[in-house]
Amino acid sequence: MQINTETSDSALAQYRFILSNHRDIRKGLAMKYIGLDSKDGIINRFASHVSSGKAETFKMFGLDFVFGRREGAYAWDAISGKKLINCHCNGGVFNLGHRNPKIIAALTRSLKELDIGNHHFVSEQRALLAERLAALTPGDITYTVFGVSGGEAIDLAIKLARGYTKKLKIISAFGGYHGHTGLALATGDEQYRQPFGPNPPGFVQVPFGDIAALKQAIDKDTAAVIFETIPATSGMPIPPADFFPQVRKVCDENGALLIIDEVQTGLGRTGKLWGIEYYDVVPDIMVIGKGISGGIYPMSATCFRKELESFFHENPFIHVSTFGGAEVGCPVALAVLEESSQPDFLKHVNELAEVFAQGFKQLKTKHPSILVGLRQLGLMMGIEMVNEQCGPVMTKVCYDHGILSIYANNDRRVSQLLPPLNIDKKLAYEILERLDGALKDTKEFLGL
Ligand SMILES: Cc1ncc(COP(=O)(O)O)c(C=O)c1O
Repeated sequence: MQINTETSDSALAQYRFILSNHRDIRKGLAMKYIGLDSKDGIINRFASHVSSGKAETFKMFGLDFVFGRREGAYAWDAISGKKLINCHCNGGVFNLGHRNPKIIAALTRSLKELDIGNHHFVSEQRALLAERLAALTPGDITYTVFGVSGGEAIDLAIKLARGYTKKLKIISAFGGYHGHTGLALATGDEQYRQPFGPNPPGFVQVPFGDIAALKQAIDKDTAAVIFETIPATSGMPIPPADFFPQVRKVCDENGALLIIDEVQTGLGRTGKLWGIEYYDVVPDIMVIGKGISGGIYPMSATCFRKELESFFHENPFIHVSTFGGAEVGCPVALAVLEESSQPDFLKHVNELAEVFAQGFKQLKTKHPSILVGLRQLGLMMGIEMVNEQCGPVMTKVCYDHGILSIYANNDRRVSQLLPPLNIDKKLAYEILERLDGALKDTKEFLGL
């Protein structure tokens, strides 16, 4: 092996820095995992061994944030200590805030007795969690297969739809996003699929919200229609009340299943436990991810109606996932469900939603040249602005104003606004105040 002296010198300097911090750790002055290296040291190591492209992109954007301490609604830069209010929440992973004490307690307890478990065998923990999901999900959705990520759970939803119906076609929305794994990727936009060769057969996209287009695309060979309740990556267009009932009807008329992706809209984000409840529709398959982890232990769930279980009854080992529904994480997911399904919790989400609705009315009168309005269902919120430059610039300006929020990649006019669901009203007002400043600066920067 050739040793590059320049690299090894800088590596040595980094190790010395780490060692000096370890001395501090012994004195109880530093954290064990956070901020052990310099900012450049961390970013260079990340660029050398994780992703050079990401490191370069964030540097270019002036967003050299390194996640350090995190607690509740806040995250601090590991080195500078810059404090951000997390209004990104990884699309709902942090619905209950960072390091929620109830969730941490659930994991701490479960670690005393459990581990991953064996995914082939009968599991008391998975059975308990699936039973709770059956009680909380709409209609006769009574079965769950667990996964680790949203994409994996979507892949399984599509496999199940095809296996059960013995049909091929899957209809999804342009601009929708269901993950970057195999079949989930195949439902998405071409820009994400193109480098990986031709799409597998059977995947068709239609504009979201367009019933006429859906009617045209669907036929007797359609296994399923898959939509997010509110497509986050498309900038949170809120479908009208009659949209999903019509989709359900069209599916039923053609013998197709309806798969609803609640990865972002689930677990109280919209002010109801599941976003699809607003539409009074029972999907055949519902996919849950992100927030069910409590931000602490990865988990996802493909939940489906009882009659679909016949497919797995005949083929019980046709799908397996070693870490899916890891037993040690099941009590964490149960604690999330417990918290998120409380009527008082959902009431609080709706009260916060009202604060944002009123706040944005005022912001609109103050910033009419940039702000189109707030797309909103509960705390599923997208700040709609006048052009495609606004979202990226707002991301950086919000960062400078102490707010972590990112633009919607498939509609860059929109900044996603997803605060934790359990913040207090005072913080909601502070977020609005900071957004006021951010809109003003974005407007000035873009000359609007
Ligand atoms: C609506 C939706 N579905 C599915 C996924 C995929 O989840 P994961 O990244 O856990 O695979 C995401 C991720 O952002 C999502 O937003």
